Amino acid sequence: MQLQLQGLALVALTAGTAASQSIRQVFNFSSYVDIENSHLRPNGHLLLSTFDNGRLYTIDPSADNPQAELVSAMPGATALCGITSIGDDKYAVVGGIRGNYSYTNETIYTVDYSGGARNATIAIAAHVSNATMLNGMDSLPEKPHVILLADSRQGAIYRVDTDSGVSTIVIQDEALAAPSNATLPIGVNGLKIRESFVYYTNSARNTFGRVPITVDGDQAGDVEVVAQLNGGTAGYDWDDFVFDEAGVAYAAQPTNAIAEIKSNGQHSIFVGGGNNTLIQGPTSITIARDGKTAYVTTHGDGTNLSGQVLVMQL
Ligand SMILES: *[C@@H]1O[C@H](CO)[C@@H](O)[C@H](O)[C@H]1NC(C)=O
Ligand SMILES: *[C@@H]1O[C@H](CO)[C@@H](O)[C@H](O)[C@H]1NC(C)=O
Ligand SMILES: *[C@@H]1O[C@H](CO)[C@@H](O)[C@H](O)[C@H]1NC(C)=O
Ligand SMILES: *[C@@H]1O[C@H](CO)[C@@H](O)[C@H](O)[C@H]1NC(C)=O
Ligand SMILES: *[C@@H]1O[C@H](CO)[C@@H](O)[C@H](O)[C@H]1NC(C)=O
Ligand SMILES: *[C@@H]1O[C@H](CO)[C@@H](O)[C@H](O)[C@H]1NC(C)=O
Ligand SMILES: *[C@@H]1O[C@H](CO)[C@@H](O)[C@H](O)[C@H]1NC(C)=O
Ligand SMILES: *[C@@H]1O[C@H](CO)[C@@H](O)[C@H](O)[C@H]1NC(C)=O
Repeated sequence: MQLQLQGLALVALTAGTAASQSIRQVFNFSSYVDIENSHLRPNGHLLLSTFDNGRLYTIDPSADNPQAELVSAMPGATALCGITSIGDDKYAVVGGIRGNYSYTNETIYTVDYSGGARNATIAIAAHVSNATMLNGMDSLPEKPHVILLADSRQGAIYRVDTDSGVSTIVIQDEALAAPSNATLPIGVNGLKIRESFVYYTNSARNTFGRVPITVDGDQAGDVEVVAQLNGGTAGYDWDDFVFDEAGVAYAAQPTNAIAEIKSNGQHSIFVGGGNNTLIQGPTSITIARDGKTAYVTTHGDGTNLSGQVLVMQL
């Protein structure tokens, strides 16, 4: 695949947003690639998982002319989803063989740059044979080798120990599932752990919620819907999100915006929306170490416009 920068575009957005917010494209793939998730490394480079070809890429978003470099095509996967850090410059990424809203061979891969390695060592940590559609992922703060993963079809959250390979469902609830009559049968999608709660977006229900958990990721209380998000149209697929230090969530809002969700459930468009055409289907957001610079990934339009990496200031 030929990868090249397609030029920079700086757009001040007006429709439905504060005029001061702006977002800028730093990279897009030159042929169609659907970027699904992202994670920053300590060196400031982004890891990008792709939904349409099972490949993991890396990019230096602060370079003058950022280029995506292939980290690995994950063996046995046609689609990759969530990524999280599980140690010192070591990551887990989930992938499987994509079917019709259903995956087989759901696998947790590890991507290890520890010890200053130039190239990552790829290994298989677990096969989650009972899972249907593993999606968003985060690691337990006190046990980072243990991860929680959303299963969008089962309305469940799996726990996987990336050292032992053992997996189990820790939370399963109607609030995490898609309703049986949903147009888009994708329930829990994005997932992040913060201060004894696992937070999630539910794409079919247009909700942002949380579940109290123990240090081991077991359920410690009822599911709570924090915000009922905008929705209504078919395929209105709220995707992944990130928290800033103050606990404000920035979420990928279909089809062209980033939403800001406060802990009291108040939410609004932070950037994009309206007739904005620069943000082509946001999928994930990552905040750099300065706490201010945020990178947005997108899936493109499915045909002509490819997945992008955009940068904005919080
Ligand atoms: C998928 O998993 C099945 C059952 O474990 C295995 O037989 C098959 O080889 C796997 N396929 C791929 C492409 O890895
Ligand atoms: C794909 O899966 C969806 C959701 O289960 C179902 O409604 C649809 O009929 C399936 N399509 C095909 C072609 O099997
Ligand atoms: C890293 O990978 C690149 C591309 O495959 C290769 O050219 C290079 O030799 C590798 N470097 C090391 C230190 O293994
Ligand atoms: C898969 O699910 C079945 C049925 O619930 C259960 O008996 C089995 O232990 C599960 N396997 C794993 C590896 O979790
Ligand atoms: C699904 O059923 C619920 C409850 O009857 C209804 O409110 C909702 O509009 C239905 N959704 C769709 C997409 O048909
Ligand atoms: C979006 O574009 C349409 C058609 O050009 C225009 O009528 C509408 O006012 C625009 N909406 C916003 C929010 O700018
Ligand atoms: C992609 O480009 C083709 C040819 O220009 C056009 O016919 C098609 O409508 C475009 N697709 C989208 C989704 O814009
Ligand atoms: C990449 O971005 C540029 C600048 O916005 C755009 O003109 C081009 O069509 C995009 N290419 C793809 C393949 O998405």
